[in-house]
Amino acid sequence: MQSMFLSTLLGFILLIPFSGHTQEHEVPYPDGYRQWVHVKSMLIQPGHPLENPFQGIHHIYANQTALKGLKKGVFPNGSILVFDLLQYSEKNNAIQESARKLVGVMHKNARRYSKTGGWGFEGFADDSNIKRLVTDGGQSCFSCHKAQAGNGYVFSHWRK
Ligand code: HEC
Repeated sequence: MQSMFLSTLLGFILLIPFSGHTQEHEVPYPDGYRQWVHVKSMLIQPGHPLENPFQGIHHIYANQTALKGLKKGVFPNGSILVFDLLQYSEKNNAIQESARKLVGVMHKNARRYSKTGGWGFEGFADDSNIKRLVTDGGQSCFSCHKAQAGNGYVFSHWRK
């Protein structure tokens, strides 16, 4: 009994540094982003180069730190940008939002995400805040965002 307790305890002690390590690089779900600043929206239809996987209506949100970055082109640590992607339906010559496809996130931490331009990239499937989509540490996201090196790896610009 006692040895079982000790081995369980030992198991926990051994696991702590490992679980801590993976957690450290995980991009957190952007809680509350629907209350942040709306930057822009776009509808991507079939035939567009971003169709797969970004067909749909997306809205881009910025937290206050990222908003400063959008205005200057330099994004301080703690900047968070959200790409909120929804499906759509067409009826009576109108295009309406429908179910959420995914929530894409860029989270700035120059040291933690140094391999991807200082941005942590993550996607959360449909309405989930735990179903993660990125499996390559954000390299495939970054390979496209790299084109925006002159704007802090961000495509969107601030408009009035
Ligand atoms: C093939 C190119 C491409 C890939 C791959 C890509 N993105 Fe983007 N991303 C874009 C473009 C273009 C925009 C700007 C969309 C707009 O103008 O509304 C964008 C915008 C964003 C934004 C809003 C900030 C900005 O740069 O405007 C976030 C957040 C984002 N993407 C996250 C991701 C994540 C996470 C991944 C990987 C799962 C990813 N992106 C992969 C092209 C790409």
